[in-house]
Parts: sequence; C-alpha cells; structure tokens
Amino acid sequence: MSVVSTKPLTVAVVGATGVVGGTMIRMLRERRFPIGDLRLLASARSAGRAVDVDGTPYVVQEATPEAFEGVDIALFSAGGDTSKSLAPEAARRGATVIDNSSAWRMDPDVPLVVSQVNPDDLEAHEGIIANPNCSTMQLVPVLMALRDAVGIERVVVDTYQAVSGTGAKAIRELQAQVEQHVAERALESSVYPHQIAFNALPQVDVFLENGYTKEEWKVVTESRKILHLPELRVSCTAVRVPVFVAHSEAVHVETVEPLTPDRARTLFAAVPGVVVQDDPTTATYPLATEAAGSDEIFVGRVRQDPSIPGDRGIAFWVVSDNLRKGAATNAVQLAEILVERGWVRAAAARNAAGSPA
Ligand SMILES: NC(=O)c1ccc[n+]([C@@H]2O[C@H](COP(=O)([O-])OP(=O)(O)OC[C@H]3O[C@@H](n4cnc5c(N)ncnc54)[C@H](OP(=O)(O)O)[C@@H]3O)[C@@H](O)[C@H]2O)c1
Repeated sequence: MSVVSTKPLTVAVVGATGVVGGTMIRMLRERRFPIGDLRLLASARSAGRAVDVDGTPYVVQEATPEAFEGVDIALFSAGGDTSKSLAPEAARRGATVIDNSSAWRMDPDVPLVVSQVNPDDLEAHEGIIANPNCSTMQLVPVLMALRDAVGIERVVVDTYQAVSGTGAKAIRELQAQVEQHVAERALESSVYPHQIAFNALPQVDVFLENGYTKEEWKVVTESRKILHLPELRVSCTAVRVPVFVAHSEAVHVETVEPLTPDRARTLFAAVPGVVVQDDPTTATYPLATEAAGSDEIFVGRVRQDPSIPGDRGIAFWVVSDNLRKGAATNAVQLAEILVERGWVRAAAARNAAGSPA
C-alpha cells in the first residue's frame, strides 16, 4: 500500500545521516509519500553536509526545536536522548512525530503501533507515536494471527540479530573484523564488548536488574502493549550474530486451543505483509540474506511443539529486514495511515479547538 494523492506535506527526517534515517528517506521515495518539503536533520556534527536523495543533494540541518516549524510529519531515528528532548518540541509546533527510539514506547499516552496489527491506536495520538523495537516488530503480526484464531497463553522467543540494528558503526566493526581475520591480524572491538565476527553474543543492549537485557525486556513489554494482551506470558533471549541485515527469531507459542502446523501456515499467510516460506523437502525456509532488502516478514519451519500437550504448542522461525519493516518501512506505513485517515495534525487541531480564543 502507498499513498497515491494528497496535499504535499512537510516531512522531517531526524537522524538523516544514520542507517535507519537513510532507509527512511529511501522508503519515503520508494512508496511515493506525498512530500512537498523534505528536511534532513542530524546533530551539529553533520550540519552543512549534503545527502544525496535520488540525485539531488539535500543539505543536512542541525536538529533544533526551531527546525520543526511548519513540519507536518517528523520521523525520528536519532537515539532516545534526542527523541526525549526534541519530539515534544516538534509536537508542540504541530508536527506528528513517529519515533523509532525506545524513549516513548511504554508511555501510556503514546500509541505503539505496527501498521497491520493495531492501526486504530493511532487515532488517540497526542503528537507523538512510537515505532516498536525491530525484534518486536517482526514478531507481533504473526502472533496476532494466533491470538485472533486460537488465543495465545505463552511465547518464548530467541532472537538472532543483525549488527545493523546497532547502527553504522557496528556494520563497520563487523566488516573490519572479517578483514582483520583474513589478514591474520588481531581483531579490534569497540562497539560490542566482545568480537562479533564468527561469534554469537548473548547480550543485546544493557543488562537489567532482573537478569534480562533491555532488548529482551522490550520484546516482552512492547508485545503485550501492541497486542492488547497485558498479561501475556513472554520470555526472550536476544543474541547478536555476525549478520549484516535482517533479524531471525525462533519462536515457541503455547496456544489456548489446539492448532495444527497446516492451519498455522494458513493463518500466517493471511496476514498482510507476511510470507510463508516452508518446504523442508527443498530446504526452503526464511533466510536473513534473502529477507534483507524486502519489506515482508517471512515465516517458516512451522511445526508442532510436542512439549506442550493437546496440540497447543507451535514452533516456527521468523525473519525480517530490521532496517525496513523493523524500522523505516513501518514508520512510513504509519505516516501513510495518518494521511489516509486524516490524522496527521489531529493532536494540533484538537488542541487548537480546545484552547481559549
Ligand atoms: N538500526 C536498527 O535496526 C534500528 C531499528 C529500530 C530502531 N532503531 C533506532 O533508531 C535510532 C538510530 O539508529 P541507527 O541505527 O540509524 O543509528 P546510526 O546509524 O548510528 O545513526 C544515528 C543518527 O542519529 C543522529 N544523531 C545522533 N545524535 C544526535 C543529536 N544529538 N541530535 C540530532 N541527531 C543526532 C546521527 O547524526 P550525526 O551524523 O550528526 O551523528 C545519525 O544521523 C536509534 O534510536 C535506534 O535505537 C534502530
């Protein structure tokens, strides 16, 4: 789906020099989002630098509160601190912010939305909308299918996450370590606490007091919020692997009612944006290398989990491009829904109507 015609909007991309910001700019162009004025914002370090957009150089400006004057939609992917300080400034100036950081996701007044799961939650926005974490993003559309058909009791998910999830520096670190290995030189690590090349790190983000990492806990809390299942039992182990793009997940779900793998495949295939790739006889299953560059969520290896009695256990493998559906594509899809439903400046309009004359 993409927006075909509407009044051209002023769109700001905050973090435009980053990996996600760059993908957002590509997505806006690919999906023909109705842009009148495109403002590329980043830190003072990048101000004045030119970014090529379809052959046209755009000069990056520093993200300051004033840079959001006249902006209709602001797509943020410049880290939590930037979002905390600047998203309210943008919203105060009438912009609707779609924020990629974790700064606002669990705020009860901020909708946390996956385009094909809970788009109606966008209506209540007060100027800031949160885009979920990439690991949660690819999981919940698939869980939604099970929730709606047979109910879900418990989810256990183990992730195999690409380095691009950490940003541009991590991509360079993996590339450099592979080259150092080939050249038989010592491997240098600065982004991750250990070498990432030829390794699997059971740490994504910082540790919390409960022994989980912040990334693992995001999957738990964000899934509950998006699926409107506040009591859902979820556990996650998040692992960083030496893959450049696309996260993979091994998922085990305990359902309320019995479910066969065949029915699960049918349910998954009916979700918009989900593609089933599942034929063990031809070694067909989702792969990070093939998912990279696509907007879809790929599901395979669907099988009965015999450790759950009564055919109420189902296991599967989910892969998606963390930079596209996991971040930029969903953000642009949310912007498209705002445009289609007339909710772009909804909060600003409500506030103006409510303010004294
Ligand atoms: N990568 C993913 O898969 C993914 C998925 C979902 C969400 N996210 C989130 O998206 C955000 C960006 O991730 P990334 O992977 O694109 O990182 P990145 O490649 O390191 O890019 C960071 C961007 O943020 C900008 N920035 C940093 N400090 C700033 C400041 N004080 N004011 C304005 N801009 C500032 C940088 O601008 P300069 O060039 O000026 O430094 C750069 O454009 C993070 O919050 C991350 O958690 C990432």
